[in-house]
Amino acid sequence: MRGAYDAGVTNEPARSRLATLPTPLETGPDLPGDVRVWVKRDDLTGLGVGGNKARKLEFLCGDAIASGARSLVTVGAAQSNHCRMTAAAGTVLGLEVHLVLSGERPEVATGNQLLSTLFGAQLHFTGAEPSHWGELEIAREGLVEQLAADGAAPYSIPIGGTTAIGALGYLGAFVELMDQFETADVQPVAIVHASSSGGTHAGLVAGRALYRSRGRTDRLPEILAIGVAKGVNHGIPDVADLARGTLAVAGFPDVEVEPADVVLDTRWMGSDYAVPTDEADRAIGWAARHGGWVLDRTYSGKGFAGLLGNAAEGRWPGGSDVVFVHTGGLPALFAPGGAPPT
Ligand SMILES: Cc1ncc(COP(=O)(O)O)c(C=O)c1O
Repeated sequence: MRGAYDAGVTNEPARSRLATLPTPLETGPDLPGDVRVWVKRDDLTGLGVGGNKARKLEFLCGDAIASGARSLVTVGAAQSNHCRMTAAAGTVLGLEVHLVLSGERPEVATGNQLLSTLFGAQLHFTGAEPSHWGELEIAREGLVEQLAADGAAPYSIPIGGTTAIGALGYLGAFVELMDQFETADVQPVAIVHASSSGGTHAGLVAGRALYRSRGRTDRLPEILAIGVAKGVNHGIPDVADLARGTLAVAGFPDVEVEPADVVLDTRWMGSDYAVPTDEADRAIGWAARHGGWVLDRTYSGKGFAGLLGNAAEGRWPGGSDVVFVHTGGLPALFAPGGAPPT
């Protein structure tokens, strides 16, 4: 099964080419429990210094342009990687970008905010807490109405770029991974990643369901999402439903997604989204010293803590291969409080 879509697709979603694909699949050291880790370097997707959102934005921006939009509006926490990458996408495609962020405007922009400003986006600060996503989404809707009234033709992107269209990017990533496993002659038992708005998870689940529907049941790795936000950890969004929607947009409305396809480990978030944990700080140090990988405290560090924790608990048999999808997050290390104590 080559490329993002198999023969039999009835509709080809609009796509803007923004990411450098395929991203590398690297082998790493053994984890506790004699499990070999492979790292899918989606931190190297290229767009605006990289990260998982480049894959989603290819389809979201394709849809925006197809629908005649002239501006993009999205939303996130103060140090949102998604917002920074949307800013970069807008610059590349000639679309004005508005970002609705938590917190107050700082005196000096750092990390993702610095980059978003550099890419020419307009930053709108709401004063909201980083984990109060409902409040942020209401502010986004208000701004979209205002921009529409001003004739800016806005395309509105929810938090994390998580829609059935955005998740197409990770349906494609699953296909890309399966191709890479074949080339490397490896059969991983699991694909592990950090999940916050659920779109990366839904796309991977959709890709796996697509393969299963084509009779490829023998070599299918489990998708293990490590929840790093309260919403996903409480089942919002419904990842199985989102995966079904993604398959429908891709032209596979009849492919079945079972509730058991959605596997989520909620033990690694700590007290809340974007609140650091000791486990994540230790995982950041482990990954930096074993593979030179740079993880962040909100997403990939907590995801990797989940990978290390599950390996230590013996979730996978000795000698297994397990893939960690490195979803990015590097710029946040350069914001206040973004780096673990050294
Ligand atoms: C670095 C990083 N990793 C993981 C995620 C989680 O991806 P998703 O929102 O698709 O669950 C995000 C989302 O913002 C992110 O920025």
